[in-house]
Amino acid sequence: MKLLADRAKIPLPESDDPREKERTKLRQQVQDINRIAARFFYEALRSGQGEAAAEYLRKRGITGDTVRKFGLGYSYDGWDNLYEHLKSQGISDEAMLASGLVIKGSSGRLFDRFRGRLMFPIFDIRGTVIGFGGRVLDDSLPKYMNSPETVLYNKRKHLYALNFAKNNGGDQIIVVEGYMDAISLHQHGITNVVASLGTALTDSQARLLKKYTDEVIISYDADTAGQAATLRGLETLSDAGCDVRVLTLPEGRDPDDYVREYGADKFRWLANNALPLVEYKIRVIRKQHDLSATGEKIKFLSRAADVLVKVENALEREMYIKKLAREYEVSEEAMHSEVIRRTRPAAVRRTKMSKTVGTAGKLISAAESPKEKIIHGERFVLSLLCVDNSIYDVVKEHFKIGDYVGEENNRIAGIIYGRIEEGSGVSPAELMNIVSDGESGIFARILNDECHCDDNEKAILGKIRDIELMKTEMRRDQIIDLLKNKSRLSENEVDKLESELRELIQELKRIKENPEYGKERRGRR
Ligand code: UTP
Ligand code: MN
Repeated sequence: MKLLADRAKIPLPESDDPREKERTKLRQQVQDINRIAARFFYEALRSGQGEAAAEYLRKRGITGDTVRKFGLGYSYDGWDNLYEHLKSQGISDEAMLASGLVIKGSSGRLFDRFRGRLMFPIFDIRGTVIGFGGRVLDDSLPKYMNSPETVLYNKRKHLYALNFAKNNGGDQIIVVEGYMDAISLHQHGITNVVASLGTALTDSQARLLKKYTDEVIISYDADTAGQAATLRGLETLSDAGCDVRVLTLPEGRDPDDYVREYGADKFRWLANNALPLVEYKIRVIRKQHDLSATGEKIKFLSRAADVLVKVENALEREMYIKKLAREYEVSEEAMHSEVIRRTRPAAVRRTKMSKTVGTAGKLISAAESPKEKIIHGERFVLSLLCVDNSIYDVVKEHFKIGDYVGEENNRIAGIIYGRIEEGSGVSPAELMNIVSDGESGIFARILNDECHCDDNEKAILGKIRDIELMKTEMRRDQIIDLLKNKSRLSENEVDKLESELRELIQELKRIKENPEYGKERRGRR
């Protein structure tokens, strides 16, 4: 919004909250520091002292054009060259520390975080420098150091080189692990490449990628590619709606080595022939079993069935079943029935995991579990509270901090309650600043679709009643479930649970019979 408003020269209303203002100011300061530092590093690479770093880049085949495009630089080997430079530009110690480029030693002295390293500025999507990575010029450790989390930089939310790749994506984006992999591929004309910087892909990164492409090709080192954390990241990507394929390089090579040795065309060929995620997962599993032993083969095929059951498209699933059956000489029918058999129990397992076991035999999918419904109801309460601060007393009465079932809702409530108590109040726009990125879409939808009530107090009381009802039912079901396994409980525990159950059933009756439940309870207290 800020970018668009600036472009259209429309002043954007600013928050009155001093903390918001402070944060905005700090972001601007850190942005300025990063720009000055990037220039300082860039110039250092051209200086006499930067000669070793320049030589290192030449040795790795990096051209002058690439150095300019990626803004590569060098951090001097001294203790505080950058610190002194920033100071000479009038920058405060406090702002420098906030940028993460300068750290405080135990004696209180400030010195540079990056010393004697090849520097990689990290750009956001618009090309603003938000952080840095720095590589040693030899084999010492740690090989890379990165900016810590700052007001601008969160490594879980960004992808290196996306600012360059976003317009070259076309049909697909290739994700590699390292700075040098991304840079090297770009230099070889493969410009639809981003780097995840050595961590498993997060949900935010998946959603970011999905904005620019529908197809993602993963090109990691062979050893990281098969790791559980990596696979979970790929699953996240696929859950975000991307078609995910995995490119496997020969053992011991990374994309940078490969493209330098074999050229761009060969790399492109590998990318075009990358394996769909499902096939890749099955291949990973296959390597873990010795298929010459019958028992192992059965284990492998049943784990493969676990993977296939998640393929939603029926035609695609059929295709894989056929392929596996043929490859491992089992009948298609047997493979098929293994997959089908798993559809029901899988739903039960998920239900149990989210601790939302319903009443006897009732299957509840995780997406609409009672707990989720309660959390969603709480979000409505918080949203409406921001629309109309006057319902605060009612809300506080029923939800103390810590009472919210959603942990995140407790955090949000803490901030909102604080502002209302201080007398500064809180608006829906501010709520959007408070909620986490992952939930902002949900809250925006609630504010848009659900928060236009004729009578806010009545609406909130109705919702409180619904939530109380759901909570009580959830606890009732939990107890019924616990009591099913009486042998695991002591007599005393059984007694307690049974008396709680009786009370819950009474409470449920009270709630159901009284449409003004919330109000009544307020009166009672
Ligand atoms: P790699 O070791 O594969 O990096 O780590 P690379 O890019 O191939 O490095 P070169 O070719 O030896 O220069 C992948 C990524 O993991 C992160 C970095 O982002 C790196 O690019 N990493 C790695 C760190 O943050 N710290 C480390 O010590 C090592
Ligand atoms: Mn490498």
